Amino acid sequence: MECKNYRVAVIGGDGIGPEVCDAAKQVLQKTAEQDGRIAFTFTDLPWGCTWYKESGRMMPEDGFDILKGYDAILLGAVGRPDVPDHVSLHGLLIAIRQGFDQYVNLRPVKLLKGAPCPLKDVKREDVDMIFVRENSEGEYAGKGILEADRAEQVGVFTRRGCERVIRYAFELAVKEGRRRVTSVSKGNALNYSMVFWDKIFAQVAADYPQIEADSLLVDAASMFMVRDPARFDVVVCSNLFGDILTDLGAAIAGGMGMSAGANLNPEGRFPSMFEPVHGSAPDIMGQEKANPMATVWAASQMMDCFGRPDLGKKILAAIEAVLEEGKYRTPDLGGSSKTSEVTRAILEKL
Ligand code: NAD
Ligand code: IPM
Ligand code: MN
Repeated sequence: MECKNYRVAVIGGDGIGPEVCDAAKQVLQKTAEQDGRIAFTFTDLPWGCTWYKESGRMMPEDGFDILKGYDAILLGAVGRPDVPDHVSLHGLLIAIRQGFDQYVNLRPVKLLKGAPCPLKDVKREDVDMIFVRENSEGEYAGKGILEADRAEQVGVFTRRGCERVIRYAFELAVKEGRRRVTSVSKGNALNYSMVFWDKIFAQVAADYPQIEADSLLVDAASMFMVRDPARFDVVVCSNLFGDILTDLGAAIAGGMGMSAGANLNPEGRFPSMFEPVHGSAPDIMGQEKANPMATVWAASQMMDCFGRPDLGKKILAAIEAVLEEGKYRTPDLGGSSKTSEVTRAILEKL
């Protein structure tokens, strides 16, 4: 039997990043051993704020050349209180998303069995949406002016950039058998960029008459996510709106420790990057309090991306089985288990 070896670059990064990456690596390793048809070679890259303190850079100058040789990137988290966040994040995370044209940020918001939900009168099946966040331009384009008495932050929305991510959302809806794509925007106030976005959404939607196209203003969308989450199926939105709404999504689907994301270059010209939605959580680092489930879920997304959705489902089912059993939970889920205990429990459920 042929065995395909995947080379994965692991950037643990800062805070709890290395701790949760370690869990995801163990789960991927065991999944591969059980399957027999795939294998992993992991390379740990010590980039991040410690690297920055020593070198003045978040990653080496030839970082992109190094990363290009891998099939995927697993990223923990970036950010440390003694390094300015805009420096650390633009120097690594945002740099990779943009440099590798990972223009889709795919973030499932799904309430697994056994995961806590703060909403009342909500059925588990009601919280099951997939966010398709634009990930390469928009409000994160990094353009503007910073002066002593004035700052301008310019959002850049191109036809190509909007159209490809909106089309991705519709194609995903078709592929996954979803009935509706909701666009979240803010054309009433952002009278250039969001008017443009809305126009392109309507144009692309016309190519998919079988999928219901819905459009919400971002303020109303956040209200509906809490009041009526069942309304959302596939959601497509700009970079900043997607950032904010997926933390809200995490909150209704079990918390930051339960929320994963894939930064995809769908054409495969560059490696895609898989990471938890949460940050480096300096408040709990090094204490074995981090919930590894978000990063393990990101590992499951990696399997989907490698064309093995069966293994992706298997990993997600193992997470769900641990949650449902309720014996091992980190403190964010109301338990007192350690990161390593939850990881072991997931490995056993595999
Ligand atoms: P955060 O997500 O790191 O933490 C928010 C809260 O959630 C904290 O109370 C933290 O303890 C908790 N939390 C997060 N992940 C958890 C997990 N896996 N298990 C249990 N609890 C968890 O957000 P923040 O505090 O706003 O940011 C901290 C740093 O991380 C900043 O430097 C920020 O810029 C950076 N950040 C990085 C990323 C990334 O690398 N993808 C994402 C968000 C924030
Ligand atoms: C995320 C993070 C990043 C973002 C930050 C850390 C730059 O919050 O991945 O959601 O805003 O994209
Ligand atoms: Mn965020």
